[in-house]
Amino acid sequence: MSKDLLRIIDCSEDFCRRVIALGGEMKARRRDPSLGKPLDGLAVVTIYEKPSTRTKVSFEVGIRELGAQVVELTKSGSQMSRGETPADTAHTLERYADAIVYRAFSHDSVAAIAEHARIPVVNALTDLYHPCQILADLLTVQEHCGGLDVPITFIGNGSNIVHSLLGAAAKLGLNLTIGTPASAAPKDEIVREAVALASETGGTIKLTNDPVEAVTGARIVYTDVWFDMGKDDEETIAKRTAEYAGFQVNSELLSKADPQAQVMHCLPAQRGREATDDALDGPQSIIFDQAENRLHAQKAILTVLLGKD
Ligand code: CP
Ligand code: NVA
Repeated sequence: MSKDLLRIIDCSEDFCRRVIALGGEMKARRRDPSLGKPLDGLAVVTIYEKPSTRTKVSFEVGIRELGAQVVELTKSGSQMSRGETPADTAHTLERYADAIVYRAFSHDSVAAIAEHARIPVVNALTDLYHPCQILADLLTVQEHCGGLDVPITFIGNGSNIVHSLLGAAAKLGLNLTIGTPASAAPKDEIVREAVALASETGGTIKLTNDPVEAVTGARIVYTDVWFDMGKDDEETIAKRTAEYAGFQVNSELLSKADPQAQVMHCLPAQRGREATDDALDGPQSIIFDQAENRLHAQKAILTVLLGKD
């Protein structure tokens, strides 16, 4: 088990299951003083190169609830923006803090800090992965479905959310279907890595370019923005929206899923694009449970990584 959380596929199965279990316990006992302050006296540095609402607030509140102090850096407001090396940055931060939470444009930036830091580094989203989101989502699936052994479909843009879902499916033996336009398929090498591991763990991973086939029988219908942060300029949106015809999560597409299907979205949503208001606000939606569970799951992630569970 790595000291870091950069990609779910690099974590142990035990780590993932402990995070989900401890996240659930921390949720149930959030206001219970007997839970104590497992990170009392510690410090966590957070670094954001990109905007964030859920990740930033849930980490900051969670870190304080665990008893640690939190210091937020922006890349532009630190010497990282003036070319200080990842090694020098990591060796400095590890003298003050016990963990680093880092949201970056490039996965390589987070990996470079993790390589040099002697303290745990948590990936708070990169172009390639969003592991904290998916561990929180698995807690949400477990709460609503009574376990993880249900057909999970992701539909839309095969990006960081999908890459982390693939890692989770492989590691935990999940039943995952990914439906994307051919032009928005997840990266081949990430799919291959997940499929190879899933063959050992009993996971099933299916990819399709047919949205109806993807959602048919799904218990979970998960979507994300069609255009990621930093790739959402007007020109790209105008040029590529047509590729997603048929991939919007709406009442018609949902009618093909399991009648008990639940709608997930990591948020923020581009309402009316990848999903309709009906789908996001209707009785099948669990999007704000997902958002809430970021808090509980991330508290568990930090607690386990720091050996305080
Ligand atoms: N889902 C998610 O990571 O949201 P933020 O970008 O608001 O942090
Ligand atoms: N795929 C989205 C996720 C946002 C939480 C993005 O990268 O913008």
